[in-house]
Amino acid sequence: MAKSTVQYVCSSCGAKAPQMLGRCPVCGEWGTYEAEYLPDGTGRTASAKRGTAAKPQLLQDIEAQEEQRIDVHNGEFNRVLGGGLVPGSLVLLGGEPGIGKSTLALQVLMQQGDRKTLYASGEESVQQIKLRAERFQGQPKNLFLLAETSLERILDHVRNINPEIVVIDSIQTISTDGLDASIGSLTQVRECAARILQFAKESNIPFIIIGHINKEGALAGPKVLEHIVDTVLQFEGDQHYMYRILRAQKNRFGSTSELGIYEMQQSGLREVTNPSELLLSTAREGMSGISIAAAVEGARPFLIEVQALVSSAAYGTPQRSSTGFDVRRLNMLLAVLEKRVGFKLLQKDVFLNIAGGIKVNDPAIDLAILAAVLSSNMDIALDAETAVAGEVGLAGEIRPVARIEQRIQEAQKLGFKRMIIPAGQHLHHKNGQIELIEVAKVADAFRILIKK
Ligand code: TYD
Ligand code: MG
Repeated sequence: MAKSTVQYVCSSCGAKAPQMLGRCPVCGEWGTYEAEYLPDGTGRTASAKRGTAAKPQLLQDIEAQEEQRIDVHNGEFNRVLGGGLVPGSLVLLGGEPGIGKSTLALQVLMQQGDRKTLYASGEESVQQIKLRAERFQGQPKNLFLLAETSLERILDHVRNINPEIVVIDSIQTISTDGLDASIGSLTQVRECAARILQFAKESNIPFIIIGHINKEGALAGPKVLEHIVDTVLQFEGDQHYMYRILRAQKNRFGSTSELGIYEMQQSGLREVTNPSELLLSTAREGMSGISIAAAVEGARPFLIEVQALVSSAAYGTPQRSSTGFDVRRLNMLLAVLEKRVGFKLLQKDVFLNIAGGIKVNDPAIDLAILAAVLSSNMDIALDAETAVAGEVGLAGEIRPVARIEQRIQEAQKLGFKRMIIPAGQHLHHKNGQIELIEVAKVADAFRILIKK
């Protein structure tokens, strides 16, 4: 093999440097630089040199075909992919260890019936995979299992078997020939992904590759991989809860706003088609500190239960803690409550929890958060049949929210009688069953929610 040259790459942001650096000057992370070996001394990796020659064509001469999709018989997975798996595409399925990536990938292959598929694992033996598969439903007739860490050998088997879908578990445990870099290193991961991509495009076989995320929540060699693959799916959730959320971070063949929801059970992952029912507790009537927010995550509306506990601070500095919601935004909202509504929370601890263990970034749940805090502080239960949507501004004003109609529909579907919405929010059609109450200020909302 030719003498290899080396460069150093930040595993967090992908910046390159000629020597090892302690701190990345681009993203500011410490200890993220890794050596990358360039095999032939030209300064390019092998995959960068290949590529078939293409000729320029006139726009009007090109026949555009609708993207074909492989229906993988898994509604949530199809949805997040943008309507199914595109032949020849490369999908990266990322997530923390133990979250359920292998389970999801194997289960999807189990649902393929007669379709020929291959599950190649560098992590487990075929016996271990078989044991896992026995927990799931589905009788696949043509699912091949392979325990192998050499990419070349895996691709040889793919050529022989000619499957319709291939899963490789995981990209960090396989290696490709001709690179003197260790398994799992940036160089290996990137080169393997590039070779798989090329193979996928040439053979028109779609590949799903699994990738582990490190503690900081980044894929090993994140930027490098994200650029190579067509689709990046992230599988997330709290280890202590059973909900798992699948979202697309990048999708060349669909939107990134779709969300798939699963529940981890003894018999594998169950698709959750109606998330609201699971996230709302049944016995919330008459309990203080609970409000119901009409949230949208991705493109999906669902109702979530916001729980707050406000108590007198035992120590000098009051505590503010939050699960499932940004604690800085909580502090901002509490400051609005103090300054604009006149509630004194300085000597109080405030704990906030989004029930069900999901994380919500939607600012439209602001008002529900303040309502739950206030309800706990006053120890008065809010009306259990009212849902809330509204972003709160620094002046204590309620700001319009995106997708208001979807939120209203979801609340109506679940039998809520009333919904508090931002004043002046433009509605295309008002359907009568649910009473809509428009509010312009936080204080107005409280007056409606807490009628003594
Ligand atoms: P796994 O798919 O191995 O995670 P990853 O590949 O992301 O590292 O899932 C591991 C967890 O899922 C493990 O803690 C056991 C649990 N599990 C179930 O609860 N039910 C099941 O049917 C299976 C297969 C796993
Ligand atoms: Mg795994």
